[in-house]
Amino acid sequence: MDDSLDSMSETSLELFPGEPVLAEPFVRQVDTGSVTHETPEHFHKSTGRWIDGVILRMRSVLGFHPTTAVNATLSRRLRNLSRRGQDAPSDIALYISYTRPVAAALNRRRAQAVEAYTPTLPPLSGIDVDIVDIVDGLERDGIFVTTLEALGVAHSADMLAAAQHVADDFAPRARALTRNGSMFNIVPSDAIVNRPGIIAWGLQDRLLNIVEAYIGLPAAYDGPHIAYTVADGREVGTRRWHRDREDHRMVKIAIYCNDVDAGGGPFEMIRTAGEDDPAYPYASLSDEELALRYGDRTVWDILSCEGRTGTVIFADTARNYHRGRPAWSKDRKAIFFSYFARRPRHPFCCDRSGLSPAQMANFAMNLPGITPRQRDSIFWRRALPLIARIIPPARM
Ligand SMILES: [Fe+2]
Repeated sequence: MDDSLDSMSETSLELFPGEPVLAEPFVRQVDTGSVTHETPEHFHKSTGRWIDGVILRMRSVLGFHPTTAVNATLSRRLRNLSRRGQDAPSDIALYISYTRPVAAALNRRRAQAVEAYTPTLPPLSGIDVDIVDIVDGLERDGIFVTTLEALGVAHSADMLAAAQHVADDFAPRARALTRNGSMFNIVPSDAIVNRPGIIAWGLQDRLLNIVEAYIGLPAAYDGPHIAYTVADGREVGTRRWHRDREDHRMVKIAIYCNDVDAGGGPFEMIRTAGEDDPAYPYASLSDEELALRYGDRTVWDILSCEGRTGTVIFADTARNYHRGRPAWSKDRKAIFFSYFARRPRHPFCCDRSGLSPAQMANFAMNLPGITPRQRDSIFWRRALPLIARIIPPARM
């Protein structure tokens, strides 16, 4: 079942080295629109974007003090402008993709691809009844909850321990970022690439089989990210109801790295609001806004995934509204593995793991025993037409 990874682990690559030295303590802050009050140095180092360098330079020339209201306003406006500019190509592409002729062509191409690939799907029945249950759950509800133990994928304990370790290392920084207004913090990619076993875990055939059986097409692997949610009670960012943009269908595998109860920010999904909606604008919504679209909250079929460490959630986060419920009693650490088709509907909305294509490519090239299927799932961009490849991805 996990021949490929098992063969990898027999080679010289240390997928789970004892205590690897983390890279320089660089922090990637995923800014989803918050107003932060960091020092200029933090801006520049945490984002590395040219606009932050411009802001830093302007402050220096004009003599703004970082804490003045004028300075904060200027920074916010310039950063918003920068954000809009950087997202403009993907926003335009997204809009065009929903125009009638383009949408029809994309739907037709996908239907043909699914029809062509279906006969070659790995057979599930008779091999693994648990996989059939997971795929059925995704079809029926858009979600299936299990545990690492029940899932029976190799190297799970090591992967979980590694994820917990880097999440704990990141905790103080995540709390500081949250105090400064950040809505969503993920462990920096440098820490993840130093733990190749974390990335490799998501490449195992058992998982790719589940993804492909559900989406009906060869799977692309967008890699893992580890989210650290501080218990601040705020309903912001991904803690508002939303659907992910990557593709018609996608699979996220979420694994809790600590026990998560009702106050600990459980993953939640609405099982009845997942109908395909070709005109869907992909906005995030509050309870009230979602009620306008789907009726009163009392009729929503919400599955709140409270669970112990090692709880595994398979979810189609593109088809169904979901969120991380705001945590108020305890921080939540969770790792997410993302998959979609190798020609996703919106390739410019992918790359959500924080790992750059170069980091993923470097991982793949240094992974002994990697199979063609695993390699192709990492290098999914190669299957894209040129026009889709040159549109820069939207910001996270
Ligand atoms: Fe999401």
